[in-house]
Amino acid sequence: MSEDLSLRSLLRASALAPNEAKILMAYILEKHYQLPRSALLSHDDLGLNSQALDEWKRFESKRLQGEPIAYLVGKKGFYNIELSVAPGVLIPRPETELLVEIGLREIKRLQGSASVLDLGTGSGAIALAVAHSAPHVLVTAADHSAEALAIAKTNTILLGLETQVQLIEGNWYEALSDENRFDIILSNPPYINSQDPHLKQGDLRFEPISALTDHAGGLSCLKTIIDGAKDHLNLNGLIAVEHGFDQSDAVLDLMKSVGLCDIQTHLDLAGHRRVASGRNSGG
Ligand SMILES: C[S@@+](CC[C@H](N)C(=O)[O-])C[C@H]1O[C@@H](n2cnc3c(N)ncnc32)[C@H](O)[C@@H]1O
Repeated sequence: MSEDLSLRSLLRASALAPNEAKILMAYILEKHYQLPRSALLSHDDLGLNSQALDEWKRFESKRLQGEPIAYLVGKKGFYNIELSVAPGVLIPRPETELLVEIGLREIKRLQGSASVLDLGTGSGAIALAVAHSAPHVLVTAADHSAEALAIAKTNTILLGLETQVQLIEGNWYEALSDENRFDIILSNPPYINSQDPHLKQGDLRFEPISALTDHAGGLSCLKTIIDGAKDHLNLNGLIAVEHGFDQSDAVLDLMKSVGLCDIQTHLDLAGHRRVASGRNSGG
């Protein structure tokens, strides 16, 4: 008897979590058969051809070894855009959308026109989501990783945002020329303590280590970014940074210590303090 290679039986027999198996199979259906996700139900008797079957088996085995779905399918939704991703960049997280919302709220307060800096842009997630939603802002997006910037550039072009988003390479503010000042600085820097066991577990094992940890106690990149903020913000300009769920007090102290004002903490959807913001009072 020949093996049943229909979608239905492949999905049933898969050792993957059902929702993950469906995401991977939907990708294969779109790529090999130009069929929408709804075909998972409407064409569940479709037998995969050998190319599609090979890809399914490859995906299944890589995912079982822990490789993130976003790297397998090469894309990830973030805020209201879709980004290309590959192992050279962090996979954008839903909690980082909070930084985009804070940035867009500030842009609205500034009546739609503002200059924005995204430090540690990775795939370009924050910079591109802001630029996509606020067509009159100019965004500078910096990273020290040439590999990340190449992916960010692809995303900038795919989203048609080349005139709004400038990509620059370098170590935090050193990527900028001295006279550069911004209305808004947003950053999701590496903030995981280098000793955190999670770095050696699950999906994190596949992401670039220098996107995840500062190779120290977790606060060193946040400190560099906050320390330099007043020199790169316009008067009353806003800085907002993402941090770990247990780093809020330390980050608020860092902001106080450099004389930022109107310091606030922001909660993510799970109710954790995950973003801190402050303003340059000029003093
Ligand atoms: C947590 S990831 C954030 C990526 C993206 N902004 C996001 O939210 O998905 C941190 C980013 O900071 C970059 N980075 C790490 N150290 C840096 C440094 N010294 N200067 C500039 N960028 C740095 C990494 O390459 C990485 O892209």
